[in-house]
Amino acid sequence: MTMTHPSASPVLDVVSLGKYFTVGGGLRTQQLRALHDASFSLGEREVIALVGESGSGKSTIARLLARLMPPSSGKILFKGRDILKEEPSRASLAYRGQVQMIFQDPFGSLNPVHTIGYHLERPLLLHGKANNPAVLREKVHSLLTTVDLNPAAEVAAKFPHQLSGGQRQRVAIARALAVDPSVILADEPISMLDVSIRMGVLNLMERLKEERGISYLYITHDIASARYVADRTMVMYAGHIVEGAPSEELMQQPAHPYTKLLLSAVPDPQGSIRSELPARSGTPKLINPPPGCPFADRCPSVMNTCREQMPETADLGSGHWVRCHLFPPGSVAASAHHERKVPASVEAAAV
Ligand SMILES: Nc1ncnc2c1ncn2[C@@H]1O[C@H](COP(=O)(O)OP(=O)(O)O)[C@@H](O)[C@H]1O
Ligand SMILES: [Mg+2]
Repeated sequence: MTMTHPSASPVLDVVSLGKYFTVGGGLRTQQLRALHDASFSLGEREVIALVGESGSGKSTIARLLARLMPPSSGKILFKGRDILKEEPSRASLAYRGQVQMIFQDPFGSLNPVHTIGYHLERPLLLHGKANNPAVLREKVHSLLTTVDLNPAAEVAAKFPHQLSGGQRQRVAIARALAVDPSVILADEPISMLDVSIRMGVLNLMERLKEERGISYLYITHDIASARYVADRTMVMYAGHIVEGAPSEELMQQPAHPYTKLLLSAVPDPQGSIRSELPARSGTPKLINPPPGCPFADRCPSVMNTCREQMPETADLGSGHWVRCHLFPPGSVAASAHHERKVPASVEAAAV
């Protein structure tokens, strides 16, 4: 099922995207299935958070969308164009200008022997955004100012090791902005930063969304930060997107037992830790996975059918959907999921 943004036309449409890796060597090669049939669409100025534990396939989705590697199956549509069909280098350079990626480790993505200015000049030149040295310098300075790195001329002359982690991530963001992208794939952009500066980077991303109309795929293992930044949140487990909903809705009314487990580790506003489910035990098998739902072994509500087949997608209404046998499509359970919520029309009348 495709998660369709209710209002805006999609910038990216991801259709049944899948990825296998071949692992091992010689006669013992095996297929590791990192991603199964991921489908969703990202609207203009929309932020979608992708949450899930390490190894669930989040970075695989981002790397496929950035075209850092080819998918094993499925399609990627950018503003309606099937970009995997537009092969040779020209189309792919244009696409890379439109869809940029920011990585978890800003130090790893900056070259220690080059200045900050050099890192920003390169994409500007490669994508033909500056045709003389004066314009180039001015663009570099304006990018640094945009990400609040001042005074720009001083920062441009520095080397990566002379900046803090937060400043380096701002450089990585400025570099992504250099080519005027419409989508930024942000893969755990704050998880290596000091807690005290994380909010500043998230606020910067938010401002750029407003000012430049950028859409984000925001990848995180921290479901609490997803709530803060994302319009919608999708939850991944063992290569499957198992639930998706408007973020607030997902946090208030999680349906999938795995989403509940993730949320149970987050302190509630009173500061107490809610915990309804056992802590994690075991990791899912990605090589020769058993049939059925990959969460079955950890699920407190597991039933026989869970070990036999992967559940279908159930539409719970209000843009909320889930893949879990507790919610068979069209069932009473699925349609009753939101019953205790006050309908929007009643709320409006009460104001
Ligand atoms: N290049 C690769 N070769 C083999 N296995 C890989 C490769 N990249 C990722 N994987 C495997 O795919 C699974 C998903 O990885 P990844 O997408 O990086 O997860 P996440 O970002 O959610 O931590 C993991 O089991 C990982 O080991
Ligand atoms: Mg990752």
